[in-house]
Amino acid sequence: MIIFKEAKNIHEYIQSKKESGLSIGFVPTMGALHKGHLSLINKSKSAETLTVCSIFVNPTQFNNPEDFQKYPITIEEDIRLLEMNGCDILFLPSYAEIYPHHFLAKNYELGKIETSLEGASRPGHFQGVCMVVEILLSIIDCDTLYLGQKDLQQCLIIKKLIELENIHAKLVISETIREENGLAMSSRNKRLTLEEQKKAGAIYQALNYIKQNIQPGTLDELKFHATNLVTENGIEKDYLEITNLDLIPIQNWDGIKKIVVLTAVTINGVRLIDNMILN
Ligand code: PAF
Repeated sequence: MIIFKEAKNIHEYIQSKKESGLSIGFVPTMGALHKGHLSLINKSKSAETLTVCSIFVNPTQFNNPEDFQKYPITIEEDIRLLEMNGCDILFLPSYAEIYPHHFLAKNYELGKIETSLEGASRPGHFQGVCMVVEILLSIIDCDTLYLGQKDLQQCLIIKKLIELENIHAKLVISETIREENGLAMSSRNKRLTLEEQKKAGAIYQALNYIKQNIQPGTLDELKFHATNLVTENGIEKDYLEITNLDLIPIQNWDGIKKIVVLTAVTINGVRLIDNMILN
């Protein structure tokens, strides 16, 4: 695996590979890699001729400084995992490579999706995500961008960014990879004790409960019972919402429309999110 730390060098290298006809798959990450990331690397490897991964813990997407400071960093282990999984190129930039002095932040017109759910609890988060992803995509001019469904709202925001900024990359969203107890794989799980990881299986149980029991009509009671499954395990709920595929909450389901349940919880100060398509 070739490791690049400078934007100019990786950009030139990728351009030369594209000119010689290779297709580029890109998996952006903030490191602390797990099987979810590796499944994206493997998906890219089976479709593209070159697979690039980036590791950059992006400060502009953290609204909470403590969350940023505590974000797990496991670079050596990440490099080992990427090499074992046959990743071709790793981009490991410094802050100044991504945000040089002359960098001017812009405001993305993302519409309502920016301020709902994650956006409501983490103001400015999706502007920061768009900022870094646009920069990364301008450096790594990929053919296909691979993201995980666990961050569904982020996926939809990045889809919008690609349209807004006329970026030519195709977006592929891959299924959430889970632990045995159903807990969605996340870098933040590394901050949980084993006991907390066990308890966190209740998040998946709550989503599954909704999937198994949903009926046309009002959804309040169903959400109430699902929320209890989480909170009775000492997990704090931020939101648990049933929405359409544009992530607009619905109170009454017609039994036909495609819907999804999304949740965010905190366990001992660690924020976890998950979602499940219901039909
Ligand atoms: O999902 C993540 O890890 C990050 O939000 C991303 C897409 C790498 C941007 O920093």
